[in-house]
Order: sequence, then C-alpha cells, then structure tokens
Amino acid sequence: MTFHLEGDLGAGKTTLVRGLLRALGYAGRVKSPTYTLTEIYEFPSFQLYHFDLYRMHDPREWLDAGFREVNDGSVVSVIEWPQKAAGWLPAPDVTIRLRIADDGRDVECEAASPRGARYLEACCADC
Ligand SMILES: Nc1ncnc2c1ncn2[C@@H]1O[C@H](COP(=O)(O)OP(=O)(O)OP(=O)(O)O)[C@@H](O)[C@H]1O
Ligand SMILES: [Mg+2]
Repeated sequence: MTFHLEGDLGAGKTTLVRGLLRALGYAGRVKSPTYTLTEIYEFPSFQLYHFDLYRMHDPREWLDAGFREVNDGSVVSVIEWPQKAAGWLPAPDVTIRLRIADDGRDVECEAASPRGARYLEACCADC
C-alpha cells in the first residue's frame, strides 16, 4: 500500500503518521524523517516506511531512500511531500489531504486504486 500525504508545512502530516504508528502499537519515538528522508518501522507482518521528501534536491535521492523496497508486498509506504519526486514514486493507493482548520485539521481521503478503495471502504465500515 502507498499513501501520499498532502498538505502545507505544518498541516499535520507527521502527526498523522505518529497517530497511525501509535494505533498500530508502536510505543517508541517517532521522528520526522525531514533530514533522513526515511524512517522504517518493523511490525510482525509488514514494515512501515515513512518518507518526507521535502528536502530532497534531486529525485535520484529517492533511489537511495528506499525506492527498491517500496514495491515489496510487505512494505506500507507513507510519503510526505510526494510532489518532490513526482514521476519517480509509485502511484498512490490513497491520497490523504490535510488542511489547517482553526486549532484542528480537516482531512480528505481519496482512493486512487481499487486496493485503496477497498481499504477506505473497510475503514468507513468501522466508523
Ligand atoms: N490534528 C491536529 N490538531 C491540532 N494540532 C495539530 C494537528 N496535527 C498537527 N498539529 C500540530 O501542528 C504542528 C505541525 O505538525 P506536523 O509536524 O505533523 O506537520 P507536517 O505537515 O508534518 O509539517 P511538515 O510539512 O513541515 O513536515 C505540530 O505542532 C503539531 O502538534
Ligand atoms: Mg512532517
């Protein structure tokens, strides 16, 4: 699965990933990958790759940041600033857009593949 996270600086992308990791039971520190481009989290049946491409200067850096693994069946990719490597990234299954709204955030989720649509349907069934 590939999630693209869109939203201005400070829109809450990293905070959303932190919440996702907490919900998955990860209790350790969740650092923003602003300087490292990638942070990797291991779960029993998959790895979560958290990318932040904001400071990427050349899309080729994406190759070093984990490009080779993202199409493995066991990798879930969550990508902040995907537009910085447009054309190099895997197509998203789900695009999540965040917008600052007073002291909270508006969120919009859009399925971009059949798999993404199934995922969002399953999420909504739980709501
Ligand atoms: N849902 C929310 N409600 C209130 N405050 C939030 C929410 N999400 C994030 N914030 C606050 O907004 C600030 C920026 O959040 P965050 O670092 O997650 O943004 P970001 O989109 O990842 O920014 P960047 O593009 O710089 O990586 C933080 O102080 C965070 O606590
Ligand atoms: Mg961030």
